[in-house]
Amino acid sequence: PTGSLLYPDGQDQGDETIPKHDDGTFREISLSIPFTFYGKSYQTVFVNNNGVISFNEPIRPYTPDPLLLMDGRPFVAPYWADVDTILGGDIFYHQTINPALLEDISQDITQNFPKSPFTATWAWWPTTRMAPLLKRLGPWGMKGNTFQAVLTTDSKVFYIIPNYWDIQWTTGAASDEDPEMGLGGTPAHAGFNSGNETNFYNIPGCQTDAIINITTTSNVKVP
Ligand SMILES: *[C@@H]1O[C@H](CO)[C@@H](O)[C@H](O)[C@H]1NC(C)=O
Ligand SMILES: *[C@@H]1O[C@H](CO)[C@@H](O)[C@H](O)[C@H]1NC(C)=O
Repeated sequence: PTGSLLYPDGQDQGDETIPKHDDGTFREISLSIPFTFYGKSYQTVFVNNNGVISFNEPIRPYTPDPLLLMDGRPFVAPYWADVDTILGGDIFYHQTINPALLEDISQDITQNFPKSPFTATWAWWPTTRMAPLLKRLGPWGMKGNTFQAVLTTDSKVFYIIPNYWDIQWTTGAASDEDPEMGLGGTPAHAGFNSGNETNFYNIPGCQTDAIINITTTSNVKVP
């Protein structure tokens, strides 16, 4: 999005706040419009603390391992890494049919895919805001990651927009990170997965050190 990059989030924007967790999953969330993902329609989603939105069932592992999930667990991972919101930060979600917000989303999509004009009629997005690095307050203070994933549709075409505001760490302490910096080890995963080994998309750089630069290297303009 233009302007403030992030689509609106927070309690003052009418978001629901997900209770603070470590490796937890909030209850199944109902979508007011069914969302089609890899050919299947879902009426509910799970927002998992560690940066994964899943269909069918929760996903709890803190170290990203998409191979674990090739057993029929479809998911979108805007940024799958070990998040502990008990230490700080928040996860919200927003569901809207507000025309002004939908217009912003429609413009962002149409700008990137001018050959497929899109008029959103519904959108839903969780925002993970300044989720700190797990159990570590180093000499640099607290590092935080802030990102969203917007699910939107015009009821015919379905888009998911991973949206990164600020990414300062890639790896949780329990995923073999460098003890000081929140880097190294098994870095964050980002991508889309149908739940099998055939149909998935990994955002370039995921699970490598380069994911730290996803705010500038993401797949904008790549369908
Ligand atoms: C993988 O998932 C996709 C989408 O659900 C489906 O179309 C495809 O048949 C599946 N492939 C296998 C090998 O199960
Ligand atoms: C991230 O981007 C910066 C600036 O372009 C670059 O110097 C650095 O090597 C990149 N980091 C990784 C791990 O790719």
